[in-house]
Amino acid sequence: MKLQSDFLVIGSGIAGLSFALKAAEHGTVAIVTKREVTESATNYAQGGIATVFSQDDTFAAHIEDTLVAGAGICHEDVVKMVVEEGPQIIRELIDWGVNFTTSGDSYDLTREGGHSQRRILHAEDVTGREIERALVAAAQLNPNIRIFEHHIAIDLITEAKVAHKRIKPNRCLGAHVLESETGLVKTFSAKITLLASGGAGKVYLYTCNPDVATGDGVAMAYRAGATIGNMEFMQFHPTTLYHPHAKSFLISEAVRGEGAILRRRDGTAFMEKYHHLKDLAPRDIVARAIDNEMKVHGDDCVYLDITHKEPEYVRTRFPNIYQTCLEYGLDMTVEPLPVVPAAHYLCGGVAVNTDAETDIRHLYAIGEVAFTGLHGANRLASNSLLEAAVYAGRAYQHAVHALKEISQPILDIPEWDSGTATDSDEMVVVSQNWDEIRRCMWNYVGIVRSDKRLERAMNRIRLIQEEIEDYYWNFKITSDLVELRNIATVAELIIRCAQGRKESRGLHCTIDYPERKDNHGKRDSFIRKHF
Ligand code: SIN
Repeated sequence: MKLQSDFLVIGSGIAGLSFALKAAEHGTVAIVTKREVTESATNYAQGGIATVFSQDDTFAAHIEDTLVAGAGICHEDVVKMVVEEGPQIIRELIDWGVNFTTSGDSYDLTREGGHSQRRILHAEDVTGREIERALVAAAQLNPNIRIFEHHIAIDLITEAKVAHKRIKPNRCLGAHVLESETGLVKTFSAKITLLASGGAGKVYLYTCNPDVATGDGVAMAYRAGATIGNMEFMQFHPTTLYHPHAKSFLISEAVRGEGAILRRRDGTAFMEKYHHLKDLAPRDIVARAIDNEMKVHGDDCVYLDITHKEPEYVRTRFPNIYQTCLEYGLDMTVEPLPVVPAAHYLCGGVAVNTDAETDIRHLYAIGEVAFTGLHGANRLASNSLLEAAVYAGRAYQHAVHALKEISQPILDIPEWDSGTATDSDEMVVVSQNWDEIRRCMWNYVGIVRSDKRLERAMNRIRLIQEEIEDYYWNFKITSDLVELRNIATVAELIIRCAQGRKESRGLHCTIDYPERKDNHGKRDSFIRKHF
Protein backbone atom coordinates (compact mmCIF):
# COMPACT_ATOMS: atom_id res chain seq x y z
CA MET A 1 0.00 0.00 0.00
CA LYS A 2 1.36 3.44 -0.95
CA LEU A 3 0.53 6.73 0.72
CA GLN A 4 1.79 10.12 -0.31
CA SER A 5 1.99 13.47 1.52
CA ASP A 6 4.04 16.64 1.47
CA PHE A 7 5.33 16.05 4.98
CA LEU A 8 5.86 12.78 6.80
CA VAL A 9 6.26 13.21 10.56
CA ILE A 10 7.53 10.23 12.55
CA GLY A 11 6.49 10.67 16.18
CA SER A 12 3.71 12.48 17.99
CA GLY A 13 5.25 14.28 20.96
CA ILE A 14 5.73 18.03 21.31
CA ALA A 15 8.32 18.06 18.49
CA GLY A 16 6.30 16.22 15.85
CA LEU A 17 2.96 17.82 16.69
CA SER A 18 4.31 21.40 16.83
CA PHE A 19 5.97 20.92 13.46
CA ALA A 20 2.87 19.26 11.96
CA LEU A 21 0.56 22.07 13.09
CA LYS A 22 2.76 24.63 11.37
CA ALA A 23 3.53 22.58 8.26
CA ALA A 24 -0.16 21.83 7.71
CA GLU A 25 -0.60 25.46 6.65
CA HIS A 26 1.48 24.64 3.57
CA GLY A 27 0.68 21.06 2.64
CA THR A 28 -0.57 17.67 3.65
CA VAL A 29 0.94 16.02 6.72
CA ALA A 30 0.99 12.34 7.67
CA ILE A 31 1.94 11.61 11.28
CA VAL A 32 2.91 8.03 12.06
CA THR A 33 3.07 7.02 15.69
CA LYS A 34 3.77 3.65 17.28
CA ARG A 35 0.90 3.44 19.74
CA GLU A 36 -1.95 5.83 20.56
CA VAL A 37 -1.19 9.39 19.47
CA THR A 38 -0.65 10.59 23.04
CA GLU A 39 1.86 7.86 23.90
CA SER A 40 5.11 9.81 23.73
CA ALA A 41 7.82 10.85 26.17
CA THR A 42 6.28 14.34 26.15
CA ASN A 43 3.16 12.93 27.75
CA TYR A 44 5.20 11.79 30.78
CA ALA A 45 7.24 14.97 31.26
CA GLN A 46 6.53 16.19 34.75
CA GLY A 47 8.80 19.10 35.62
CA GLY A 48 8.15 21.59 32.87
CA ILE A 49 9.60 23.82 30.21
CA ALA A 50 12.39 26.26 30.99
CA THR A 51 12.32 29.80 29.64
CA VAL A 52 13.03 33.34 30.70
CA PHE A 53 9.60 34.57 31.76
CA SER A 54 10.25 36.59 34.89
CA GLN A 55 11.58 40.11 35.46
CA ASP A 56 14.23 38.71 37.80
CA ASP A 57 15.63 36.42 35.13
CA THR A 58 17.82 37.11 32.09
CA PHE A 59 18.79 35.33 28.88
CA ALA A 60 22.40 35.57 30.05
CA ALA A 61 21.59 33.61 33.22
CA HIS A 62 19.69 30.87 31.35
CA ILE A 63 22.54 30.62 28.83
CA GLU A 64 25.13 30.40 31.60
CA ASP A 65 23.20 27.69 33.50
CA THR A 66 22.86 25.64 30.29
CA LEU A 67 26.58 25.97 29.54
CA VAL A 68 27.61 25.03 33.07
CA ALA A 69 25.36 21.95 33.11
CA GLY A 70 26.66 20.99 29.65
CA ALA A 71 30.20 20.61 31.04
CA GLY A 72 32.05 22.67 28.45
CA ILE A 73 30.83 21.28 25.14
CA CYS A 74 27.47 22.94 24.48
CA HIS A 75 27.39 24.76 21.14
CA GLU A 76 27.16 28.32 22.36
CA ASP A 77 25.43 29.65 19.25
CA VAL A 78 22.72 27.02 19.65
CA VAL A 79 22.29 27.71 23.36
CA LYS A 80 21.88 31.44 22.71
CA MET A 81 19.42 30.84 19.89
CA VAL A 82 17.23 28.38 21.82
CA VAL A 83 17.18 30.47 24.99
CA GLU A 84 16.38 33.71 23.13
CA GLU A 85 13.67 32.17 20.94
CA GLY A 86 12.14 30.45 23.99
CA PRO A 87 9.62 33.00 25.28
CA GLN A 88 8.04 33.52 21.84
CA ILE A 89 7.73 29.78 21.24
CA ILE A 90 6.12 29.29 24.65
CA ARG A 91 3.56 31.95 23.79
CA GLU A 92 2.68 29.89 20.71
CA LEU A 93 2.07 26.87 22.94
CA ILE A 94 -0.18 29.00 25.11
CA ASP A 95 -2.03 30.17 21.96
CA TRP A 96 -2.55 26.51 20.98
CA GLY A 97 -4.35 26.08 24.29
CA VAL A 98 -1.70 24.83 26.73
CA ASN A 99 -2.71 25.82 30.28
CA PHE A 100 0.35 26.36 32.45
CA THR A 101 -0.17 26.72 36.20
CA THR A 102 -0.58 30.31 37.30
CA SER A 103 0.08 32.08 40.56
CA GLY A 104 -1.98 35.24 40.91
CA ASP A 105 -1.71 37.21 37.66
CA SER A 106 1.40 35.52 36.37
CA TYR A 107 2.69 32.06 35.57
CA ASP A 108 4.01 30.00 38.45
CA LEU A 109 7.70 29.32 37.87
CA THR A 110 9.42 26.39 39.52
CA ARG A 111 13.08 25.42 39.86
CA GLU A 112 15.10 22.33 39.08
CA GLY A 113 18.73 21.23 39.34
CA GLY A 114 21.33 23.53 37.77
CA HIS A 115 18.98 26.54 37.41
CA SER A 116 20.03 29.72 39.18
CA GLN A 117 16.52 31.14 38.85
CA ARG A 118 12.91 30.03 39.01
CA ARG A 119 12.20 29.77 35.27
CA ILE A 120 10.25 26.58 34.67
CA LEU A 121 6.69 26.85 33.48
CA HIS A 122 4.67 23.84 34.49
CA ALA A 123 1.17 22.44 34.58
CA GLU A 124 1.07 21.11 38.14
CA ASP A 125 3.32 18.02 37.90
CA VAL A 126 1.91 16.79 34.58
CA THR A 127 3.27 19.44 32.21
CA GLY A 128 3.84 17.10 29.29
CA ARG A 129 0.36 15.65 29.53
CA GLU A 130 -1.13 19.13 29.30
CA ILE A 131 1.04 20.06 26.30
CA GLU A 132 0.20 16.79 24.57
CA ARG A 133 -3.52 17.26 25.24
CA ALA A 134 -3.57 20.70 23.65
CA LEU A 135 -1.44 19.81 20.63
CA VAL A 136 -3.26 16.55 19.89
CA ALA A 137 -6.60 18.36 20.07
CA ALA A 138 -5.37 20.99 17.60
CA ALA A 139 -3.89 18.36 15.26
CA GLN A 140 -7.04 16.25 15.27
CA LEU A 141 -9.08 19.26 14.16
CA ASN A 142 -6.73 20.10 11.31
CA PRO A 143 -8.00 18.82 7.93
CA ASN A 144 -4.48 18.74 6.48
CA ILE A 145 -3.16 16.36 9.14
CA ARG A 146 -3.74 12.59 9.10
CA ILE A 147 -2.63 10.64 12.14
CA PHE A 148 -1.72 6.97 11.72
CA GLU A 149 -1.73 5.31 15.16
CA HIS A 150 -0.12 1.89 15.76
CA HIS A 151 2.23 2.50 12.84
CA ILE A 152 5.94 1.95 13.43
CA ALA A 153 8.50 3.19 10.92
CA ILE A 154 10.84 0.36 9.92
CA ASP A 155 13.36 2.19 7.76
CA LEU A 156 13.82 5.42 5.88
CA ILE A 157 13.64 5.27 2.11
CA THR A 158 16.44 7.14 0.40
CA GLU A 159 17.32 7.76 -3.19
CA ALA A 160 20.50 5.72 -2.77
CA LYS A 161 18.55 2.80 -1.36
CA VAL A 162 16.04 2.85 -4.20
CA ALA A 163 18.79 3.16 -6.84
CA HIS A 164 21.05 0.57 -5.12
CA LYS A 165 24.07 2.82 -5.46
CA ARG A 166 25.92 5.56 -3.61
CA ILE A 167 24.41 8.99 -4.21
CA LYS A 168 25.86 12.14 -2.69
CA PRO A 169 24.14 14.00 -1.28
CA ASN A 170 21.58 11.37 -0.60
CA ARG A 171 17.90 12.34 -0.42
CA CYS A 172 15.12 11.04 1.83
CA LEU A 173 11.91 10.01 0.09
CA GLY A 174 9.84 8.77 3.03
CA ALA A 175 9.70 5.57 5.05
CA HIS A 176 8.46 2.02 5.11
CA VAL A 177 6.02 1.74 7.97
CA LEU A 178 4.52 -1.32 9.65
CA GLU A 179 0.92 -1.25 10.80
CA SER A 180 1.50 -3.27 13.91
CA GLU A 181 -2.02 -4.63 14.32
CA THR A 182 -2.31 -6.07 10.78
CA GLY A 183 1.36 -6.74 9.93
CA LEU A 184 0.95 -4.76 6.70
CA VAL A 185 4.02 -2.76 5.62
CA LYS A 186 3.05 0.50 3.91
CA THR A 187 5.16 2.84 1.80
CA PHE A 188 4.84 6.44 2.97
CA SER A 189 6.41 8.74 0.41
CA ALA A 190 6.89 12.41 1.23
CA LYS A 191 8.77 15.44 -0.02
CA ILE A 192 9.93 16.22 3.51
CA THR A 193 10.46 13.65 6.26
CA LEU A 194 10.79 14.68 9.90
CA LEU A 195 12.15 12.43 12.61
CA ALA A 196 10.54 13.35 15.91
CA SER A 197 10.56 9.88 17.36
CA GLY A 198 12.01 10.67 20.80
CA GLY A 199 14.64 8.97 22.88
CA ALA A 200 16.08 5.59 23.72
CA GLY A 201 15.73 4.94 27.46
CA LYS A 202 14.59 1.37 26.77
CA VAL A 203 18.16 0.52 25.78
CA TYR A 204 18.73 0.34 29.56
CA LEU A 205 17.21 -2.09 32.03
CA TYR A 206 15.96 0.68 34.31
CA THR A 207 14.38 3.72 32.70
CA CYS A 208 11.59 6.14 33.45
CA ASN A 209 10.88 6.43 29.71
CA PRO A 210 7.69 5.00 28.23
CA ASP A 211 7.94 1.69 26.33
CA VAL A 212 8.01 3.55 22.99
CA ALA A 213 11.48 5.02 23.68
CA THR A 214 13.49 2.50 21.66
CA GLY A 215 15.72 4.87 19.69
CA ASP A 216 14.01 4.11 16.39
CA GLY A 217 14.85 7.45 14.77
CA VAL A 218 18.55 7.28 15.61
CA ALA A 219 18.78 3.67 14.40
CA MET A 220 16.93 4.37 11.15
CA ALA A 221 18.94 7.51 10.41
CA TYR A 222 22.19 5.66 11.10
CA ARG A 223 21.22 2.82 8.77
CA ALA A 224 20.35 5.39 6.10
CA GLY A 225 23.80 7.00 6.38
CA ALA A 226 23.13 10.11 8.49
CA THR A 227 25.74 11.35 10.95
CA ILE A 228 25.02 10.51 14.59
CA GLY A 229 26.59 12.46 17.45
CA ASN A 230 27.39 12.30 21.18
CA MET A 231 25.63 9.05 21.98
CA GLU A 232 27.78 8.48 25.08
CA PHE A 233 25.77 11.16 26.89
CA MET A 234 22.78 9.24 28.19
CA GLN A 235 21.30 11.15 31.08
CA PHE A 236 20.27 9.23 34.17
CA HIS A 237 17.53 10.89 36.19
CA PRO A 238 18.56 10.83 39.85
CA THR A 239 15.18 10.09 41.34
CA THR A 240 12.82 7.39 40.14
CA LEU A 241 10.67 5.49 42.58
CA TYR A 242 12.29 2.34 43.95
CA HIS A 243 9.42 -0.11 44.10
CA PRO A 244 9.07 -3.53 42.44
CA HIS A 245 5.90 -2.56 40.57
CA ALA A 246 6.53 1.13 39.83
CA LYS A 247 8.47 0.65 36.54
CA SER A 248 10.91 3.42 37.54
CA PHE A 249 8.17 6.02 38.00
CA LEU A 250 9.75 9.50 37.80
CA ILE A 251 9.84 11.70 40.89
CA SER A 252 10.29 15.10 39.30
CA GLU A 253 13.34 17.18 40.02
CA ALA A 254 10.85 19.92 40.81
CA VAL A 255 10.28 18.10 44.12
CA ARG A 256 13.88 18.97 45.00
CA GLY A 257 13.30 22.38 43.41
CA GLU A 258 10.62 22.94 46.04
CA GLY A 259 12.88 21.86 48.90
CA ALA A 260 13.13 18.04 49.06
CA ILE A 261 16.39 16.64 50.43
CA LEU A 262 18.20 13.43 49.48
CA ARG A 263 19.09 11.27 52.47
CA ARG A 264 20.70 7.94 53.18
CA ARG A 265 18.78 5.16 54.92
CA ASP A 266 20.00 6.48 58.31
CA GLY A 267 18.62 9.96 57.53
CA THR A 268 21.96 11.65 56.70
CA ALA A 269 21.69 14.31 53.98
CA PHE A 270 24.64 13.76 51.65
CA MET A 271 24.56 16.15 48.68
CA GLU A 272 26.59 18.82 50.48
CA LYS A 273 29.63 16.55 50.09
CA TYR A 274 29.32 16.62 46.31
CA HIS A 275 28.35 20.15 45.20
CA HIS A 276 27.73 23.60 46.62
CA LEU A 277 24.20 23.58 45.13
CA LYS A 278 23.55 20.40 47.16
CA ASP A 279 20.30 18.73 46.07
CA LEU A 280 19.95 21.16 43.17
CA ALA A 281 23.32 20.40 41.61
CA PRO A 282 23.30 19.51 37.89
CA ARG A 283 21.74 16.14 37.24
CA ASP A 284 24.87 14.19 36.30
CA ILE A 285 26.43 15.12 39.64
CA VAL A 286 23.36 14.15 41.67
CA ALA A 287 22.96 10.81 39.84
CA ARG A 288 26.63 9.93 40.38
CA ALA A 289 26.44 10.97 44.04
CA ILE A 290 23.46 8.65 44.60
CA ASP A 291 25.20 5.82 42.75
CA ASN A 292 28.27 6.32 44.93
CA GLU A 293 26.30 6.47 48.20
CA MET A 294 24.46 3.28 47.30
CA LYS A 295 27.70 1.47 46.43
CA VAL A 296 29.67 2.71 49.47
CA HIS A 297 26.91 1.92 51.96
CA GLY A 298 25.61 -1.20 50.22
CA ASP A 299 22.10 0.23 49.98
CA ASP A 300 19.53 -0.52 47.29
CA CYS A 301 18.24 3.05 47.19
CA VAL A 302 18.40 6.48 48.82
CA TYR A 303 15.50 8.55 50.12
CA LEU A 304 13.88 11.78 48.96
CA ASP A 305 12.45 13.71 51.86
CA ILE A 306 9.86 16.48 51.55
CA THR A 307 8.08 15.71 54.81
CA HIS A 308 9.13 19.11 56.26
CA LYS A 309 6.73 20.86 53.85
CA GLU A 310 3.05 21.37 54.60
CA PRO A 311 1.16 18.20 53.48
CA GLU A 312 -1.50 20.29 51.77
CA TYR A 313 1.15 22.13 49.73
CA VAL A 314 2.75 18.83 48.64
CA ARG A 315 -0.61 17.34 47.67
CA THR A 316 -1.62 20.32 45.54
CA ARG A 317 1.78 21.06 44.00
CA PHE A 318 2.49 17.41 43.10
CA PRO A 319 -0.92 15.77 42.76
CA ASN A 320 0.14 13.11 40.26
CA ILE A 321 3.31 12.11 42.11
CA TYR A 322 1.51 12.13 45.46
CA GLN A 323 -1.36 9.99 44.18
CA THR A 324 0.85 7.54 42.29
CA CYS A 325 3.12 6.99 45.29
CA LEU A 326 0.06 6.50 47.48
CA GLU A 327 -1.05 3.72 45.13
CA TYR A 328 2.26 2.00 45.90
CA GLY A 329 1.62 2.44 49.62
CA LEU A 330 3.90 5.46 50.11
CA ASP A 331 2.65 8.77 51.52
CA MET A 332 5.29 11.35 50.62
CA THR A 333 3.84 13.90 53.04
CA VAL A 334 4.83 11.76 56.02
CA GLU A 335 7.66 9.47 54.82
CA PRO A 336 10.71 9.89 52.57
CA LEU A 337 10.38 8.18 49.17
CA PRO A 338 12.85 5.43 48.21
CA VAL A 339 14.52 6.49 44.95
CA VAL A 340 17.19 5.30 42.50
CA PRO A 341 18.58 6.74 39.24
CA ALA A 342 17.30 5.46 35.88
CA ALA A 343 17.98 6.17 32.21
CA HIS A 344 16.06 9.27 31.23
CA TYR A 345 17.26 11.36 28.31
CA LEU A 346 19.57 10.94 25.33
CA CYS A 347 21.64 14.11 24.84
CA GLY A 348 23.11 12.86 21.55
CA GLY A 349 21.28 11.69 18.45
CA VAL A 350 20.96 12.46 14.76
CA ALA A 351 23.28 15.39 14.03
CA VAL A 352 21.46 18.47 12.74
CA ASN A 353 22.28 22.07 11.92
CA THR A 354 20.40 25.05 13.35
CA ASP A 355 17.59 24.49 10.83
CA ALA A 356 17.22 20.87 12.01
CA GLU A 357 18.55 19.51 8.72
CA THR A 358 20.38 16.19 8.88
CA ASP A 359 23.05 15.44 6.29
CA ILE A 360 20.49 13.54 4.20
CA ARG A 361 18.56 16.07 2.12
CA HIS A 362 14.88 16.55 2.99
CA LEU A 363 15.34 14.66 6.25
CA TYR A 364 14.99 16.74 9.40
CA ALA A 365 15.29 15.66 13.04
CA ILE A 366 14.00 17.48 16.12
CA GLY A 367 13.42 16.75 19.80
CA GLU A 368 15.21 14.01 21.71
CA VAL A 369 16.11 12.10 18.53
CA ALA A 370 18.28 15.01 17.41
CA PHE A 371 21.74 16.12 18.41
CA THR A 372 21.69 19.90 18.14
CA GLY A 373 24.56 20.83 20.47
CA LEU A 374 22.25 22.48 23.02
CA HIS A 375 22.79 19.98 25.83
CA GLY A 376 26.53 19.39 25.59
CA ALA A 377 27.60 16.61 27.94
CA ASN A 378 24.62 16.97 30.25
CA ARG A 379 21.20 18.50 29.60
CA LEU A 380 19.95 21.22 31.92
CA ALA A 381 16.60 20.16 33.39
CA SER A 382 13.51 21.21 31.43
CA ASN A 383 15.50 22.44 28.43
CA SER A 384 14.28 19.54 26.30
CA LEU A 385 10.66 20.55 25.72
CA LEU A 386 12.01 24.00 24.95
CA GLU A 387 14.51 22.65 22.44
CA ALA A 388 11.83 20.54 20.76
CA ALA A 389 9.45 23.48 20.37
CA VAL A 390 12.12 25.90 19.14
CA TYR A 391 13.51 23.42 16.61
CA ALA A 392 10.00 22.55 15.41
CA GLY A 393 9.68 26.20 14.41
CA ARG A 394 13.09 26.28 12.77
CA ALA A 395 12.59 23.00 10.90
CA TYR A 396 9.21 24.26 9.70
CA GLN A 397 10.65 27.54 8.37
CA HIS A 398 13.36 25.72 6.49
CA ALA A 399 11.27 22.80 5.25
CA VAL A 400 8.50 25.00 3.88
CA HIS A 401 11.06 26.90 1.88
CA ALA A 402 12.64 23.64 0.67
CA LEU A 403 9.22 22.25 -0.24
CA LYS A 404 8.73 25.00 -2.82
CA GLU A 405 11.94 23.98 -4.51
CA ILE A 406 11.23 20.28 -4.65
CA SER A 407 9.99 20.18 -8.20
CA GLN A 408 10.91 16.64 -9.10
CA PRO A 409 8.12 14.11 -8.64
CA ILE A 410 8.66 11.55 -5.94
CA LEU A 411 10.38 8.55 -7.48
CA ASP A 412 8.47 5.38 -7.98
CA ILE A 413 9.38 3.82 -4.68
CA PRO A 414 9.31 0.04 -4.51
CA GLU A 415 7.04 -1.48 -1.94
CA TRP A 416 8.43 -3.46 1.01
CA ASP A 417 9.60 -6.89 -0.04
CA SER A 418 9.20 -9.50 2.66
CA GLY A 419 10.85 -12.15 0.45
CA THR A 420 10.52 -15.65 1.77
CA ALA A 421 10.00 -14.60 5.39
CA THR A 422 7.73 -16.86 7.38
CA ASP A 423 5.94 -16.42 10.69
CA SER A 424 8.34 -16.84 13.57
CA ASP A 425 7.96 -19.84 15.83
CA GLU A 426 10.66 -18.62 18.19
CA MET A 427 9.61 -15.35 19.73
CA VAL A 428 11.88 -16.27 22.63
CA VAL A 429 14.79 -14.98 20.51
CA VAL A 430 13.27 -11.51 20.75
CA SER A 431 12.57 -11.59 24.48
CA GLN A 432 15.95 -13.15 25.34
CA ASN A 433 17.93 -10.59 23.36
CA TRP A 434 15.77 -7.72 24.54
CA ASP A 435 16.57 -8.53 28.18
CA GLU A 436 20.21 -9.24 27.50
CA ILE A 437 20.89 -5.93 25.73
CA ARG A 438 19.21 -3.88 28.42
CA ARG A 439 20.92 -5.66 31.31
CA CYS A 440 24.30 -5.49 29.56
CA MET A 441 23.91 -1.74 28.99
CA TRP A 442 22.85 -1.14 32.58
CA ASN A 443 25.73 -3.12 34.06
CA TYR A 444 28.54 -2.14 31.69
CA VAL A 445 27.57 1.18 30.08
CA GLY A 446 25.75 2.85 32.98
CA ILE A 447 26.51 5.78 35.26
CA VAL A 448 30.16 4.80 35.80
CA ARG A 449 32.09 3.09 32.97
CA SER A 450 35.51 1.60 32.29
CA ASP A 451 37.40 0.46 29.20
CA LYS A 452 36.96 -3.16 30.24
CA ARG A 453 33.23 -2.83 30.82
CA LEU A 454 32.76 -1.11 27.48
CA GLU A 455 34.72 -3.81 25.68
CA ARG A 456 32.69 -6.55 27.34
CA ALA A 457 29.50 -4.76 26.38
CA MET A 458 30.61 -4.34 22.76
CA ASN A 459 31.49 -8.01 22.42
CA ARG A 460 28.09 -9.04 23.65
CA ILE A 461 26.14 -6.52 21.60
CA ARG A 462 27.95 -7.60 18.41
CA LEU A 463 27.00 -11.24 19.00
CA ILE A 464 23.41 -10.30 19.72
CA GLN A 465 23.32 -8.14 16.58
CA GLU A 466 24.42 -11.08 14.43
CA GLU A 467 21.65 -13.20 15.86
CA ILE A 468 19.09 -10.43 15.33
CA GLU A 469 20.14 -9.84 11.71
CA ASP A 470 19.81 -13.52 10.96
CA TYR A 471 16.39 -13.62 12.55
CA TYR A 472 15.32 -10.29 11.01
CA TRP A 473 15.64 -11.39 7.41
CA ASN A 474 14.17 -14.86 7.87
CA PHE A 475 10.98 -14.08 9.74
CA LYS A 476 8.06 -11.76 9.12
CA ILE A 477 8.58 -8.40 10.65
CA THR A 478 6.80 -7.43 13.88
CA SER A 479 6.99 -4.24 15.93
CA ASP A 480 8.88 -6.15 18.66
CA LEU A 481 11.50 -7.21 16.16
CA VAL A 482 11.84 -3.68 14.74
CA GLU A 483 12.34 -2.30 18.25
CA LEU A 484 14.80 -5.03 19.22
CA ARG A 485 16.94 -4.33 16.17
CA ASN A 486 16.82 -0.62 16.97
CA ILE A 487 17.85 -0.91 20.63
CA ALA A 488 20.75 -3.14 19.54
CA THR A 489 21.88 -0.48 17.04
CA VAL A 490 21.55 2.32 19.57
CA ALA A 491 23.44 0.26 22.18
CA GLU A 492 26.27 -0.19 19.69
CA LEU A 493 26.37 3.55 18.96
CA ILE A 494 26.41 4.47 22.66
CA ILE A 495 29.28 2.07 23.30
CA ARG A 496 31.28 3.24 20.28
CA CYS A 497 30.98 6.90 21.29
CA ALA A 498 31.83 6.03 24.90
CA GLN A 499 34.89 4.07 23.81
CA GLY A 500 36.10 7.03 21.79
CA ARG A 501 35.94 9.51 24.68
CA LYS A 502 39.06 9.10 26.79
CA GLU A 503 38.03 11.47 29.57
CA SER A 504 35.23 11.93 32.10
CA ARG A 505 32.86 14.73 31.19
CA GLY A 506 29.27 15.37 32.18
CA LEU A 507 27.28 12.19 31.79
CA HIS A 508 30.23 10.15 30.56
CA CYS A 509 32.17 9.04 33.62
CA THR A 510 34.92 6.43 33.34
CA ILE A 511 37.25 5.16 36.03
CA ASP A 512 40.07 4.80 33.48
CA TYR A 513 40.08 8.50 32.58
CA PRO A 514 38.66 10.25 35.64
CA GLU A 515 39.65 13.78 34.58
CA ARG A 516 38.01 16.17 32.16
CA LYS A 517 40.50 16.99 29.40
CA ASP A 518 39.69 20.44 28.16
CA ASN A 519 42.73 20.71 25.92
CA HIS A 520 42.69 17.39 24.19
CA GLY A 521 40.79 18.80 21.24
CA LYS A 522 37.85 16.41 21.21
CA ARG A 523 34.51 18.07 21.50
CA ASP A 524 31.76 16.03 19.92
CA SER A 525 31.74 12.34 18.99
CA PHE A 526 30.49 11.62 15.49
CA ILE A 527 29.71 8.27 13.87
CA ARG A 528 28.58 7.37 10.36
CA LYS A 529 27.85 4.08 8.73
CA HIS A 530 30.23 3.18 5.94
CA PHE A 531 28.60 1.63 2.92
C1 SIN B 1 11.72 16.13 35.89
O1 SIN B 1 10.57 16.48 36.08
O2 SIN B 1 12.51 15.92 36.81
C2 SIN B 1 12.19 15.93 34.51
C3 SIN B 1 12.47 17.21 33.88
C4 SIN B 1 13.44 17.04 32.77
O3 SIN B 1 13.97 15.96 32.58
O4 SIN B 1 13.72 18.02 32.09
